[in-house]
Parts: sequence; C-alpha cells; structure tokens
Amino acid sequence: MQLQLKTWQFVEDYLKTKTGIIIPIGSTEQHGPTGLIGTDALTAEMIGRGAGEKVGALVAPTISVGMAQHHLAFPGSVTLRPTTLIAVVRDTVVSLARHGFTRFFFVNGHGGNIATVTAAFSEIYAERSMERLSNQPSIKCALRNWWEGAGTTKLCQELYPSGHGSHATPSEVALTWYKYPETMQQKPMEPRIAPNGSFADAEDYRRAFPDGRIGADPNLATPEHGKRIYDLAVEEVARDYEKWAAR
Ligand code: NI
Repeated sequence: MQLQLKTWQFVEDYLKTKTGIIIPIGSTEQHGPTGLIGTDALTAEMIGRGAGEKVGALVAPTISVGMAQHHLAFPGSVTLRPTTLIAVVRDTVVSLARHGFTRFFFVNGHGGNIATVTAAFSEIYAERSMERLSNQPSIKCALRNWWEGAGTTKLCQELYPSGHGSHATPSEVALTWYKYPETMQQKPMEPRIAPNGSFADAEDYRRAFPDGRIGADPNLATPEHGKRIYDLAVEEVARDYEKWAAR
C-alpha cells in the first residue's frame, strides 16, 4: 500500500491498529553498460512495495538518491553527502513519528548506503534519548537489504555460480528487466566478467573499473530469473518485516 496513493484519513485509521511503515531506499548511479542508472532504487522500491502488499503495510516514497560518490565519474550518477543522507533519513523518520509511526523498516537496494543509514539511526536514537520525552513511545529503525534473505542469497548463487560480482550484478539487472522489460539490452563486454577490487574516490573507481562493473557479468541476467528472485525476495522481506514489526 503506497502512502502516496492514500489519504490522510486512511493513514489516521491505519495508525489505530498498526504503527509500522516500509521505506524503500536506493541509489541513482551507473550500473555498467546495460544496467539502469536507477537499478538500486528501482529494486528496493519493487521489493519494498511487494512486501508491503503481502503484509498490508504502508510503503513510504522511495529515497532514490543515496551514497554514490564513487560513481560520479560516470554521467548520470547522482550522490548525496553522508551528512545529507543522514538528514534525509532523520527528517523522514521524525515526520512520520510525529503521526504515531514507531517502526521504520528500510528496504535497501545499495550496499554503499548501509554505513550512512545505520549512522542516521544512531543519530535518531541519540536525539530521542537526549530529549527524555517520557510521553513518547520508543521508535525502532531497521535496515534490510533486499538480497540478504537465506533463500534469496542461495537462489542468486545457484543462478550465477560465477560472474555475480558486486556491482551491476546479474541479479539486480534481472530484477529490473523483469519489472521494466522494455529496458532490456545486452552488449558484448570485455572482459566478460569484470575485475574485482577496491576503490576510493570517483576517478580511482573509473580507472579500476572502466565500464563501471565490479566482478559481474550482467549478460547472464534474464527477466525469468528476475521474476524468481523477485518472488522469493518479496516473501522473505515480508516475513522479516512482520517478525520485526511485532516486537
Ligand atoms: Ni546496484
């Protein structure tokens, strides 16, 4: 249930029985020669919304721009500074908490967001604790990467025993092709499986990974794989949300 497609009266009624909300968070950054720039936001959004439908939870607007400084040497990539993303996460949570939401479940599509979003949670808790407002309920935040469920991890390993890599991966590309089939394209890539390694800033990244991929062969992706990954990830994220929100 998308928050954006509901009325304030609907939300007021929802809050009489539930106080949890799912917040998709991703990134806007290059994903190799064939992957969509929106991949990390689109995958978090589709899986967050799918899970929300399954459990009858509201799903907030997607936070589509995240930590992508290392991709800025590729046209179209957009980043926030860590302090900006901390402020965005904090302001989103505090706004919703004002209405009575107490459980904030971030479905994440980008590994590079984890450290900063976790820091934002610490900021929110610290503010709450230092205010000592005893009349306010405790709030809890969680970050759940769409790919981390045991079944989803296993499925991705089975589908891509080699060439999965860590950026422009066939699993994330397959998800976007399942949801947006009109964007599907394949191109020969050299080498077929991109190199692995570390990086620092944007220029360093582009020198090490000239076509943008890390360790991945996105030509292994198919829309059918995307559907299988989607169905399983939605099921696992929905299960984790329900367990977590009930605590
Ligand atoms: Ni990605």
